[in-house]
Amino acid sequence: MERNEFIKSLGLGVALVCTGSCFSGCGKKSDSPEPNKPGGGPVPPGTGVNVDLNTQILAVGASIVVSGILFIRIASGNTTSSFAATQATCPHQGGSLAFIEANNYIQCSLHSSRYTTAGAILAQPNDGGTTSALKTYPLTISGNTLTATA
Ligand code: FES
Repeated sequence: MERNEFIKSLGLGVALVCTGSCFSGCGKKSDSPEPNKPGGGPVPPGTGVNVDLNTQILAVGASIVVSGILFIRIASGNTTSSFAATQATCPHQGGSLAFIEANNYIQCSLHSSRYTTAGAILAQPNDGGTTSALKTYPLTISGNTLTATA
């Protein structure tokens, strides 16, 4: 093999090695976990999401977000009619929803749409868009555990 041919073949080999490592690096998925979401992310349909009634949403008007579900205590007592459970993100553009106890409605943090605790629309978004009714979840109680089925 001539010197020039040897150098050319060496250069081609180096180029192939560099290209291969670049492609394998580009295809690698990130190992970093998803950022934390308050209340956890949504769960698959049919999954039970629990609230401990010994320690959570004890007072009328209290609310909590667990796994993408907004739980609200709407009356005293521990029967299913004492609670409401709706989606925790707005159907309009995904803003977070919060129960406003003083006004007895659920409000979006992004464009201020408002809903009843049963999920009906009280006010459309303030950006001129339209929203839809909130998803609500069936509730059961076993002992002191309130469960919404996603
Ligand atoms: S995202 Fe809720 S009103 Fe726009």
